[in-house]
Amino acid sequence: MHADKGNYYTQGLPVPETPPPGKAPEFWRETALVGRPIPRVDGYERVSGSAIYPSDLALPNMIYGDVVRSPHPHARVKGVRIDRAAALPGVRAVVTGDSPAARDIKWQHNNHEGKLFDPVCRFEGEVVAAVAADSWYQAADAARAIEVDYEVLPFTVDHDEALKSSAARVWESGNLVGRESYERGDIATGFAEADVVLEQEYRTACELHTPLELHGCVANWEGDRLTIWESTQGVYAVQSRVAEALGLPLSRIRVIGHYLGGGFGSKLWPGKYTVLCALLAHESARPVKLLLSREETFLCVGNRPANTMRLKAGVKKDGRLTALEFDCSGPSGAYPAGGVQLVDWLVRDLYLCDHVRTEGRDVYINAGPARPFRAPGHPQGAWALEQMMDSLAEKIGLDPVEFRLRNIPLVSQGREGRPPYTVTGLRQCLEKGAEAFKWQATLERIKKQNSQPGHVKQGAGLAGCLWIAGAGGPPSTVTIKLFRDGSVNLNMGASDIGTGTKTIMAQVAAEELGVKPEAIQIEHADTGTTQFATPSGGSKTVPTEAPTVRNAAIEVKRQLLAMAAEDLGVPVAELRYVGDEIVRAGRPEQKIKVAEVSTFKKRGVVIGIGYRGPNPEDKAISPFAAHFCELEVNTKTGEIVILRFLGVHDSGRVMNRLTFDSQVIGGIVMGIGFGLTEFRQLDANQTGKLCNKNWHDYKLPTALDAPAEIASLPVELDDPACNNTGAKGLGEPVTIPTAAAIANALHMATGVRFTAAPLTPMAVLRGLERQKEEGGEI
Ligand code: MOS
Repeated sequence: MHADKGNYYTQGLPVPETPPPGKAPEFWRETALVGRPIPRVDGYERVSGSAIYPSDLALPNMIYGDVVRSPHPHARVKGVRIDRAAALPGVRAVVTGDSPAARDIKWQHNNHEGKLFDPVCRFEGEVVAAVAADSWYQAADAARAIEVDYEVLPFTVDHDEALKSSAARVWESGNLVGRESYERGDIATGFAEADVVLEQEYRTACELHTPLELHGCVANWEGDRLTIWESTQGVYAVQSRVAEALGLPLSRIRVIGHYLGGGFGSKLWPGKYTVLCALLAHESARPVKLLLSREETFLCVGNRPANTMRLKAGVKKDGRLTALEFDCSGPSGAYPAGGVQLVDWLVRDLYLCDHVRTEGRDVYINAGPARPFRAPGHPQGAWALEQMMDSLAEKIGLDPVEFRLRNIPLVSQGREGRPPYTVTGLRQCLEKGAEAFKWQATLERIKKQNSQPGHVKQGAGLAGCLWIAGAGGPPSTVTIKLFRDGSVNLNMGASDIGTGTKTIMAQVAAEELGVKPEAIQIEHADTGTTQFATPSGGSKTVPTEAPTVRNAAIEVKRQLLAMAAEDLGVPVAELRYVGDEIVRAGRPEQKIKVAEVSTFKKRGVVIGIGYRGPNPEDKAISPFAAHFCELEVNTKTGEIVILRFLGVHDSGRVMNRLTFDSQVIGGIVMGIGFGLTEFRQLDANQTGKLCNKNWHDYKLPTALDAPAEIASLPVELDDPACNNTGAKGLGEPVTIPTAAAIANALHMATGVRFTAAPLTPMAVLRGLERQKEEGGEI
């Protein structure tokens, strides 16, 4: 309850000018609410447990689904017997590839049209049957009672082996998904110009999506209308995929996704589980809840593919890069899913270089399909490029910060036509970061410490990055409904995937309307009641939705100004919207309370619709960043302890410092997992199965693994060209350079170049051992 309940207008805070119809709003110079560290608008709900996530949802008469999955990485389903399962107590539906309701259902994997139930299972975890029963345990028992005859087929799970003629074929046509190549300048000329040429192979391991909330949904039919509550980044993406699979009109499918416990790219669209859940609900005429187990999510909801990368680079003694040649391969899994997608982007675009050639080979293996994973391709590419940058700097005797500063691009070299960036904050990220981190002093301190005897050594390292996208763009539609007390309904289709989207949108609406942030009630992520939105991903949600919210709020103000002009009998152009009042410019005695505008009084509400215009066509928009890391390594045990981390980010305007910093901290911790502990272990020799499909064997960083000190430093540069809010997106750059910065710090600590991620204690010990044997750098 608020003391001044009934009046949600702010008084005294400046309200931005209302541009006349047809004129775009000005870039905000001063803001009253945007940028303030306002706590999450849904913070109480999230921490108290009253927020209902799809996994919390319980409906009357709801039953539970479970899925039978192939235990083999490659097998033909010869027969499925369901009699025993169907006869078990509580079982209400069984669906297999033989069920009339399921037989013809197709399932699209990017450009590949597959089947919901494919008689050939090409990865461990592929669906074979599904059941629904009164309790979770009964469903699990029934799933176990389904008897499947498999003809086990030879498999390939190693992407380095997949293209050899001896490798088992995932598909008859062979294991090559496709090749991608890129070239600019002339690579031979570039290497001829170089004073130093280095070449190195780098590897990164497959990282599994591990959002805290499992994947899944609740499905319920009312007649021929289907409602799905799904843990998703995009309700409209779920709606369209399910409509396509079931052959239903979009209008009969309502998808609700108010909360989700993380997605990171693996919940950009639904899974087969969503369609199975809808089928089970239909067959049983009950609401069905189908949540995957952690083991199942590790098998089949997505991953960041492992990559093998070879990078050859040429540099002049003065620190100018002359040539970059990059070769990369990686697995899509069993379906085309972008095994090398965007892995080369940083090589193409991050540093000035005239002569660049890249090639990528995407291969099939008998494992779960890859999916976008927080900055697809970029952390892998950074692992290679940013270590190479340090190796080159060392060879030519330049400080790694200084070397990077000599190669800062002002245009996006990798894009057609080399468009200029609206703002390139990379220089500021490096310079301000080096200063805040005390880079030079740290190096000197470490050098002194490491010259002392002892088996614990220190190191410091940095890495830079950009993110290809982040600018957002249309389509986006938002409506804002203003009530007479100044309270507001803000209606948008986008999901808040945990980043604070709703809070930022409340700030934007409150800023434009001159109302208190707590006046804003948000309706979102529901295809039945909210506007269309693309999935929240690609670091684009704020840059896409915030300008739209702004435009919707401006529409509200324009309507009120026009209504007030009638009441006051003055030209609308002379009126100013100042919050709770509309005032004539230069004649402050001529004014009217917003709530007293007569048409507003009559109608009760004013509704503004906002759309999002396109981004500038002739410019490139990218967020930039630099990460700095200090660590120590125990050379007897191979253990690494990260002592401190600094994330410096140019993402344009900081919309909310609290949500900003929480992205930076979370991204760094995720990057520490990628760099130090996480890897999918497939048994390539005997079974082809996933060996570490649980939280005991698959090591995520915990609070104890996070550095005691993680600092976030925004480089806030005005970027009026990117959009009318100046925000460029943050969710992905925060995890791109992290692992590379760790590897560079480890090199300083040990003198060894560790080229394969993750840097587990075993890997560190092996590297130190090799160094001892070879008496030099590896
Ligand atoms: Mo992101 S990988 O676009 O959710």
